Amino acid sequence: MKSTPRGAKSAQTWDSLFYKAADDFFISCEGLALTYDDVSLATLYSEILPKEANYDTLLAPGLHLHLPVVSADMDTVTESRMAISLALHGGLGLIHYNMPPKQQLSEVSRVKNHVHGLIREPIKVHPDQKIGDVLNLIEEKKFTFSTFPVVDEFGRLLGLLPGHCVRARFASRNVSEAMVSRPSVLTIRENELGGDPIARADRFFTDNIGIHKLLVVDEEDRLKGLFTLSDIERIFQERSLQTKPARDEKFRLICGAAISPPRLPDGSLDQDSLLAHVGAMVERGLDAVAVSTAHGHTRGVGECVKAVHAEFRDLPIIAGNVTSGAGVEFLAECGANTVKVGQGPGSICTTRVVAGVGIPQLTALYVCSKAAENCNVTLLADGGITKSGDIVKALTLSHAVICGSLLAGCPEAPGQIMEINGKFYKQYRGMGSHAAMKAGSAARYGHGKEINRKSAAEGIEALKEVSAPVDTVLAQLAGGLQSGMGYLGASNLGELRSHARYTRITSSGLRESAPHDVIEVKTGNAL
Ligand code: XMP
Repeated sequence: MKSTPRGAKSAQTWDSLFYKAADDFFISCEGLALTYDDVSLATLYSEILPKEANYDTLLAPGLHLHLPVVSADMDTVTESRMAISLALHGGLGLIHYNMPPKQQLSEVSRVKNHVHGLIREPIKVHPDQKIGDVLNLIEEKKFTFSTFPVVDEFGRLLGLLPGHCVRARFASRNVSEAMVSRPSVLTIRENELGGDPIARADRFFTDNIGIHKLLVVDEEDRLKGLFTLSDIERIFQERSLQTKPARDEKFRLICGAAISPPRLPDGSLDQDSLLAHVGAMVERGLDAVAVSTAHGHTRGVGECVKAVHAEFRDLPIIAGNVTSGAGVEFLAECGANTVKVGQGPGSICTTRVVAGVGIPQLTALYVCSKAAENCNVTLLADGGITKSGDIVKALTLSHAVICGSLLAGCPEAPGQIMEINGKFYKQYRGMGSHAAMKAGSAARYGHGKEINRKSAAEGIEALKEVSAPVDTVLAQLAGGLQSGMGYLGASNLGELRSHARYTRITSSGLRESAPHDVIEVKTGNAL
């Protein structure tokens, strides 16, 4: 570059020479693919405090998230428990498809029927049980409560066994002798809970001093659930912490589910079973379907997206994965609203090793974002997110991120905790690993049902150290995102995208970016 006399340029011009807007930056790196750790974002003048930054995102008409985080549709990441936690914090869970269609339907129903704070299946006792049996139950199951609804064999409410009667001195007495009988138990009908059941329960506890449990019954007086005062108070505390659940227009938590195109024996799309299954999920309130494959720019995925779009015009469709503008355009033309970007960046992925294919994630996102602008689709940055800083970088070019590895160690992820040498782990495996493909995900990687030695695995089986629960992990990610937005003077994600200025960093810059030359005694919980 020619040298220019100092002072001849304004401070802003000097800045823009080194810290470039997306088009200038990525075009100046033409032919070179970059990922999160290859770049850093420049700070900008800001009037935004991190806590004021709003990260709401609209992925598709009717698909509004209050936190731009989606949990990966992987069998070691997202079933109903994870999807509920994500939606409670404003994000979206994509239920994986390595399970029979019927089970996927129940998983969707569990999310859609979840009322935060309402215990759907409370532990019940029967009138002819001995109080000693109840004490044994508490001991065996390590319950931390001792008040139980009493029901008959049809589940109809007979009374409430109060905790102060559940004592060893009464062990030989029947529950029926100790219970508060039905007429004195305060209840609410399920259909009276209204649009905001938590507010309704909260009002009840305020109106009824000294009552700590509210039982929910149906029109035949069968027990349908239970609210406790302590849960409701905890929820109100959480609300003041800015967590806003992502809900549909009927106030239910939102839920997504993944599918892969089902095939007939001749290899053609099995349209009937595809539409029947998606239809059944839509009936249960599904908010988005994700046609999830390793290679989304294919005839098979295109046919599947078109078929779903033709039948369910209002259902948001997420499709992928791609890493090219042509791939985005193709899926948009087929009817996708949101396109998943990422081939090979995932922590358990071996696509680039096995197939030699894939694009480092930030360049893939930039190239795809150029097409997305023209086709009116949104983008999900899928894979390779290892810390909140990556989310900030990803969201400069996309509308939400998909996380697998960051959530796989949470207690809400499916799978057992195992202990190895005194440390606790959970399994985390690629959907293209042999084990996962055998369990059903082979089609995602273009294989038939029979997995044999020639079917190359594109993912590994791994372990994740057990992490904090989802609420803690998401709070850290959201906090990091807000910090990044504050540094860029971005009050919302649109501004984050337009304000972002990039610079490349070297390996020494990367080393400088993390703690160095110290003995770390406390990690600071950086995610
Ligand atoms: P992270 O980095 O969050 O990535 O763990 C999760 C994403 O990785 C993708 N995925 C795979 N990619 N082989 C691949 O090449 C696999 O076996 C595999 N399994 C999952 C997927 O996009 C997920 O969201």
